[in-house]
Amino acid sequence: MSGKYKATARAHSNIAFIKYWGNTNHDLRLASNSSISMNLRDLYTTTTVTWLPDLKSDTLTINGSTAEKIAIERVSHHLDIIRQQFDIRTFADIESENNFPMGTGIASSASSFAALTLASITALGKSLPEKSLSMIARRGSGSASRSIPSGYVEWIAGESHETSYAEMFLDYDHWDLVDVIAIVSKQHKRTGSSAGHPTADTSILQDTRVRYADQRLQQVKTAIQQRDFEQFAEVVEEDSNLMHAVMMTSQPPLFYWNPLSLDIIKSVREWRLKKGIQVCYTLDAGPNVHCICVRDSVDVVINLLKNMSEDMELRTSPAGQGAYVIE
Ligand code: DP6
Repeated sequence: MSGKYKATARAHSNIAFIKYWGNTNHDLRLASNSSISMNLRDLYTTTTVTWLPDLKSDTLTINGSTAEKIAIERVSHHLDIIRQQFDIRTFADIESENNFPMGTGIASSASSFAALTLASITALGKSLPEKSLSMIARRGSGSASRSIPSGYVEWIAGESHETSYAEMFLDYDHWDLVDVIAIVSKQHKRTGSSAGHPTADTSILQDTRVRYADQRLQQVKTAIQQRDFEQFAEVVEEDSNLMHAVMMTSQPPLFYWNPLSLDIIKSVREWRLKKGIQVCYTLDAGPNVHCICVRDSVDVVINLLKNMSEDMELRTSPAGQGAYVIE
């Protein structure tokens, strides 16, 4: 390879309504169950990849600072997969920017690995079908497979590399759902998702969670298709609770909620069931609460959350598109 091969791509973060937790193959990141998510328009990562023949190893800056060794290793491992696929030996310089501040506890691996996948392949002068990009992004971070397609997305768990990928089932303008993220704690989580997934099977609840995951997934899909918020809310909350029940009963047990998370969880249900506000909650591997609401409920939900704690930061985003090349 000679010359300079450079490209910039952007990918959005996503919030899962049916969660991915646990793998049947950790190296390939084959999920134990299929999952569903919505891309977040206003939370994204922009990544520029330059393949440079003179480099002796991959280099990575995140928001202008040299990344930690562990982050560089994970990115290099992902580029190894791409190098192998395209039979190249060149290293790359990677500049990555998150438009949401690092250390807010909002996951960035989905948007990061989706943007990295698209930018690095485009920089090689190649273009691949969306399905292949999703499969490759999945190897870097499972949830990144869902940040490649647009809008409301299903990651089909599959049984092999070729059968495990995400695809859009409805575009972002189908239903104006908004994620109001209550940033309860900015502390870096002690056990990240990658370390958490291998513990899922140590919980005796995981089998049951996985057994009925497809049923819940169909219910959520139908609810989104029909814009049926009540049905949507009940299953999304149940699915989040099931994942956290698995986490709490694993070896070692993982407790991601803090007291304010639980206060918000209980309040959100009251707001919906007693006041008729169309909002429900879902939590990933951290204490921040994603309050999913219809557009008309956003202002009232923001006010109610602000009344619960003065120093709680909020971040809001509607549904968004998939990964795309900028230049
Ligand atoms: C709880 O995709 O972050 O957010 O593949 O190890 O990068 P890795 O895990 P990741 O796991 C996401 C877990 C989750 C649920 C979800 O987004 O589906």
